[in-house]
Amino acid sequence: MANSPLSLLLLFYLIPFSNAHHPRFKFTTSHLLASNPNIFFSPTTFFEVTRPIPLPKTQQCSQLLLQHDFGYTYGKPPATSYYTPPSCLTQTPSRIVLEWHATCQGRQFDRIFGVWLGGVELLRSCTAEPRPNGIVWTVRKDVTRYTSLFYENSTFAVHLGNLVDSTYTGVYHVNVSVYFYFDQKRPYRQSGQYHIPAFSSPADLVMPISRSLPLNDGLWFLIQNSTDIQSKEISIPSNAYRAVVEVYVSFHSDDEGWYINPPNDYISKNNITGLPGNGAFREVTLRLDENVVGAVWPFTVIYTGGVNPLLWRPITGIGSFNLPSYDIEITPFLGKLLDGKPHKFGFGVTHALDVWYVDANLHLWLDQKSSKTKGTLIKYEAPEYATSVVSKFRGLDGKFKTEADRIICSAGWVESSYGKISSYVAQELHFKNFMRFKGNGSIQLVNQTIQASSSTYAEDSFTVIYTEELQQYFPLYLYSGTADKVGDTYSLVSELSLGFDQKQVIGEKGGMGFRFGSLTNLQTAQGNMKVKGNLVTSGVGSTQQVYKYEGTDGCYFRNVSSRNYTILFDKSEDSCTNLGRWGAFNESVPIRSSYAKGD
Ligand SMILES: *[C@@H]1O[C@H](CO)[C@@H](O)[C@H](O)[C@H]1NC(C)=O
Ligand SMILES: *[C@@H]1O[C@H](CO)[C@@H](O)[C@H](O)[C@H]1NC(C)=O
Ligand SMILES: *[C@@H]1O[C@H](CO)[C@@H](O)[C@H](O)[C@H]1NC(C)=O
Ligand SMILES: *[C@@H]1O[C@H](CO)[C@@H](O)[C@H](O)[C@H]1NC(C)=O
Ligand SMILES: *[C@@H]1O[C@H](CO)[C@@H](O)[C@H](O)[C@H]1NC(C)=O
Ligand SMILES: *[C@@H]1O[C@H](CO)[C@@H](O)[C@H](O)[C@H]1NC(C)=O
Ligand SMILES: *[C@@H]1O[C@H](CO)[C@@H](O)[C@H](O)[C@H]1NC(C)=O
Ligand SMILES: *[C@@H]1O[C@H](CO)[C@@H](O)[C@H](O)[C@H]1NC(C)=O
Ligand SMILES: *[C@@H]1O[C@H](CO)[C@@H](O)[C@H](O)[C@H]1NC(C)=O
Repeated sequence: MANSPLSLLLLFYLIPFSNAHHPRFKFTTSHLLASNPNIFFSPTTFFEVTRPIPLPKTQQCSQLLLQHDFGYTYGKPPATSYYTPPSCLTQTPSRIVLEWHATCQGRQFDRIFGVWLGGVELLRSCTAEPRPNGIVWTVRKDVTRYTSLFYENSTFAVHLGNLVDSTYTGVYHVNVSVYFYFDQKRPYRQSGQYHIPAFSSPADLVMPISRSLPLNDGLWFLIQNSTDIQSKEISIPSNAYRAVVEVYVSFHSDDEGWYINPPNDYISKNNITGLPGNGAFREVTLRLDENVVGAVWPFTVIYTGGVNPLLWRPITGIGSFNLPSYDIEITPFLGKLLDGKPHKFGFGVTHALDVWYVDANLHLWLDQKSSKTKGTLIKYEAPEYATSVVSKFRGLDGKFKTEADRIICSAGWVESSYGKISSYVAQELHFKNFMRFKGNGSIQLVNQTIQASSSTYAEDSFTVIYTEELQQYFPLYLYSGTADKVGDTYSLVSELSLGFDQKQVIGEKGGMGFRFGSLTNLQTAQGNMKVKGNLVTSGVGSTQQVYKYEGTDGCYFRNVSSRNYTILFDKSEDSCTNLGRWGAFNESVPIRSSYAKGD
C-alpha cells in the first residue's frame, strides 16, 4: 500500500539527491550517534510536559488492559484483548485514567499508534525513538469522558505499525492499564439528576465513528487526497438530547509536515521531484449526510522524528504523546438524526496528500425519562472557507503567503423531558502561513498561526442552561537550513518555536457551575545535525518549554530545558497562589474536580 510506513522509509532512500537540497522533515538517529560506550547506562526517560491529572486521594482500582510486544506489526491486525468491567466498578468513578507504559531499545522510527475500546478511540499517540541503552516512557490520559464504555464488555485494541529489520531494530514493549478513582464527596453528577440536563458530565453513550475489526490496520479511516471522503452510517438512540463529535486526526508521509509544503507551481516550475506540495493549508471537515457541519484546523503536532529528532530527547513535542482531539457540537442537528434511521458521518481533508488518519467518537447524552426526544434544525450556515495564496518566486527562492478564514454556525432545538432547549453553535477559524525560501532553496522559513474558536449556548424558554467557549491559538515558527551537501550527506540547522494556547470558559446551570481554564504552552528549540540519507549521524538539540495552566480546578506551571539528552533545569509549581493573575479564583470560586480539556 502506498501509505505504508515501509514506503515512507523507501521513499526517503529513493529521493534523488539533487532534490535533497531542500530541508527535509523526518529522521532517526544512527548507531554512531546513539551509541554510548557505557551500554549499562540506565534507560533514558522521555516525557511530554503536561499538567499532572488532578486525582482524588481516595480509593482506586486498576486493571491491566493489554501487555504486548510490538515487533513486526506493520500491516497486521491490531493487538487486542477482551475487556470486562472490573468488580470494583459498582459505583461511578470520579476519574478514570488510561496509562500507557513502554520500553524500547535499539533504533527505530517514530511510530503512530491508536488505542480503542469498543471501537471508540481513547488515545492517539506517537512512540519515542529508542537509544541503544534503552528508553522508557509513560503517557497518562484522563479518559473520564468515556466513562460509559468502561461498564460494557468489549474489545480493547492497539494498533502500532512497526517494522523491524537489521537497521530498525527497536521492538516496543508495552503495558496499557486503566485506573479508576472514586471520591465519595465529589462523584460525577449523573445525567438527569435534579432533573436538569447534564452537559459537562460524561456522555451516557459513546459511539465509534471508525472502521470495525477485524482489519490489518488501525481503526482510523485513511484519507489519501482532497476528494477522498471516508464515512460510516450510524443510527442513534431516539432519546438523545445532546451530541458532540470528537475528532482524532494525524498526518503522515507526504503530509507529515503539511505546513511546510510549498504550492505546486513552485515545485513544477523548478522541476522538483520528491518534495510534497499542495501548499500549506489543510482543513479536516466533518460531514453529516454530505453537508459540512464542522471543521478542524489541526494543531501542528511534530512527532519524535520530526525536524531534528535530537530536539525531542527527552522532552517530546507538544501533543506528540497525546494528540489533541477536537470537539464539534452537533446538537442543533439532532432533529435530523432522531428519526431512527442511519445517517452518514463523513470526513474529508482539503488539499490532503497521502495520508491522514481520521476517526471520531460520537458522545450522546440521553433522556433517562423518555424514550423519544424530538428536535428541529432552525438555522445552518457553512460557507466555503475563504482563502488567498500570494506567491512570488524566482527559481528556488521566493515568498508565499497563505491565508484562510471560515465560519460555521447552526441553531436548533431539542424537546425532551427537560423541556424545549434551543442551542446555538458557532465555529470561527483563521489561518495564516508565511513561507520563504532563500539561499537557492537551501533555507526555508515558515511562520504560521491558527486561531480556532468555538462556542455553544443552550437555553430553555426561561433561562440559560449551558454555555461553553473555547479559544485556541497555535503559533509555529520553523527555520531550516541545509548546507555541506555531498552525495547523500548534508548538515541541517533548525530553529523552532511551537505553541499551544487555549482558554475555556464553561457555565452550567446546576451541576458544576462556572469553570475556567487557561493554558499557555510554548516550546522553543534549536538543533544541528549531520544527515546521511534519513539517518542522523551526529548533532545536538536543545529544547526549552514553559507550560502555564490556571483554572478553577487548580494551576500548574513548569519551566524545563534540555540539551543533548540532559535536563538543564526543571522548575514546577502547582499552587495557584504563587501564580498571580488568576490566583483570585482560588478565593472566589469553589475548586471542583473536573476534567478540564486543558489537561
Ligand atoms: C461480560 O463478560 C463476563 C466474562 O466473560 C461475563 O461473565 C458477563 O456475563 C458479560 N457481561 C455481559 C453484559 O455480557
Ligand atoms: C508489564 O507488566 C508486567 C507484569 O506486571 C511486567 O512484568 C512487565 O515488565 C511490564 N512491562 C512494561 C513494558 O512495563
Ligand atoms: C483519491 O483517493 C481515492 C481513495 O484512495 C482514490 O479512489 C482516488 O482515485 C484518488 N483520487 C485522485 C485524484 O488521486
Ligand atoms: C524544467 O523542465 C522543462 C522541460 O524539461 C524545461 O523546459 C525547464 O527549463 C526546466 N526548468 C528548470 C528550472 O530547470
Ligand atoms: C540552485 O540550485 C539548483 C538545483 O540544485 C542548481 O541547478 C543551480 O545551479 C543553483 N543555482 C545557484 C545560483 O547556485
Ligand atoms: C510570525 O508572524 C507574526 C505575525 O503574523 C509576527 O508577530 C511574529 O513576530 C513572527 N514570528 C517570527 C519568529 O518571525
Ligand atoms: C525559565 O527558567 C529560565 C532559567 O532559570 C529563566 O531564564 C526563564 O526566565 C524562566 N522562564 C519563565 C517564564 O519563568
Ligand atoms: C553530548 O553528550 C555526550 C555525552 O553524553 C558527549 O559525549 C557529547 O560530546 C555531547 N555533545 C555535544 C554536542 O555537546
Ligand atoms: C488555594 O489556596 C490554599 C491556601 O490559601 C492552598 O493551600 C491551596 O493549595 C490552593 N489551591 C490550589 C488549587 O492552588
